[in-house]
Amino acid sequence: MTQRPSTVVVLAAGEGTRMRSTRAKVLHPILGRPMLGHVLAAAATLEPQAVVVVVGHAREQVTDYLADEFPDVRTAVQSEQLGTGHAVRIALEGLGPVADPDGPVVVLAGDAPLVTGATLAALIAAHERARASATVLSAVVADPSGYGRIVRDGDGALAAIVEHKDAADDQRAITEVNSGAYVFAAGPLRDALSRLRRDNAAGEEYLTDAVTLLRKPGRVVQAVPVASAEEVLGVNDRAQLAHVGALWRDRILTHWMREGVTVVDPRTTWVDVQVTLEPDAVLHPGTHLHGRTHVAAGAEVGPDTTLRDTTVAAGAHVRRSEAVGAAIGAGAQVGPFSYLRPGTVLAARSKVGAYVETKNATVGEGSKVPHLSYVGDAEIGAGSNVGAATVFVNYDGVAKHRSTVGDGVRIGSDTMLVAPVTVGDGAYTAAGSVITEDVPPGALAVARSRQTNVEGWVARRRTPPPDTAQEPSA
Ligand code: UD1
Ligand code: CA
Repeated sequence: MTQRPSTVVVLAAGEGTRMRSTRAKVLHPILGRPMLGHVLAAAATLEPQAVVVVVGHAREQVTDYLADEFPDVRTAVQSEQLGTGHAVRIALEGLGPVADPDGPVVVLAGDAPLVTGATLAALIAAHERARASATVLSAVVADPSGYGRIVRDGDGALAAIVEHKDAADDQRAITEVNSGAYVFAAGPLRDALSRLRRDNAAGEEYLTDAVTLLRKPGRVVQAVPVASAEEVLGVNDRAQLAHVGALWRDRILTHWMREGVTVVDPRTTWVDVQVTLEPDAVLHPGTHLHGRTHVAAGAEVGPDTTLRDTTVAAGAHVRRSEAVGAAIGAGAQVGPFSYLRPGTVLAARSKVGAYVETKNATVGEGSKVPHLSYVGDAEIGAGSNVGAATVFVNYDGVAKHRSTVGDGVRIGSDTMLVAPVTVGDGAYTAAGSVITEDVPPGALAVARSRQTNVEGWVARRRTPPPDTAQEPSA
């Protein structure tokens, strides 16, 4: 087990101009979680004694998010963005007491959301093994432009980190770059931060200069290349957001496929980080699973289906549909083209077929709503059938009312059930009825006007125009 860091500092004060957004850059979501949330989740696996996020631009948005999702995380306000070194200095100055102030300090960027806890743990382990003052996570990349370059001396030791803006041409040719993730020994770091200057191209206090300042006889300062360069990708614009999002998608899907989930078409399947799946679940093309969705063993979702905060029990199948806050029972069938809204509970082996909308509704075991219906604020018992184009009329313009349909009921097609109303066990309603009174168990309710046929009416009242008066030709 690697040593627990005393502090993780996450830098998130920058403006993120290239996103062209009113939303703070680090709050742009990837797979249901802001970038900053991904970084903090990786940091949390290290069990640090304290986590500090440096906030500046759009800081109310960031602090609101942290208060909701990471209440233990502290914040430090950097009102002027005077550089990454300045940001870390402010974070450490404002930090209250921690149990072990001499433990390693980890620094991460809030806009690099692919870094994993495993990589950070390995970085701390390398730092401890070398008894280093600073350990920089580096990466060898095809296009190093914009990054700080890792300059090594004749022995291969880290000599300096030179920012792109400050680099000479021969240094710009270096493809090993600073990822922006570091481990520092706390005391030497504080000392180096107090000695930073702004005599560089950006006029900023560079954290990278602290690394160079720490290089002294008897001290180890090192750069450790990351195993997979993808992990250190940062997001500066929307194109990079999409690219990093796709890498996160692949990472999540690879995890679930290894756990025994079939993903028919990973390119069109998006599964949020908090979704859980069981082995032998099948996700068809165009499946999007969000929030706290769970899909149980042997259930199939898709094609072209979006579920949010929805549970799909074993063996159920949801096709070309959308569900929010629904619970779909074992072996149930949904779709195509249905919309399950919050509070929908479909019992085992029930069916909600094509073009059906449900809300606050329970469909009992084996019951069916096969076609073109609205089921709102309703309780349907077991083994009942709701005919095509039935509407549970739940809203009188002021308040919503509930309806109850018993077991073994047959609701005729095009029935309006005007709530509040109860249809007893085994009862039938005639097609086209407007049901406003309770129906006793076993009764047939007919609530429509009786049909009258007026014999010979057409011949008496309609004279056909001359051009259509001939006999139809054979
Ligand atoms: C930084 C590194 C560079 C590295 C690159 C990796 C420095 C000087 N350079 O460059 O070597 O290759 O990251 O992506 O550190 N931030 C603050 N306050 C500030 C300035 C920045 O909180 O005053 C935050 C930003 O919001 C961002 C992070 O620090 O999350 C990195 O800052 P950025 O300006 O993007 O640094 P780079 O120029 O990319
Ligand atoms: Ca950057």
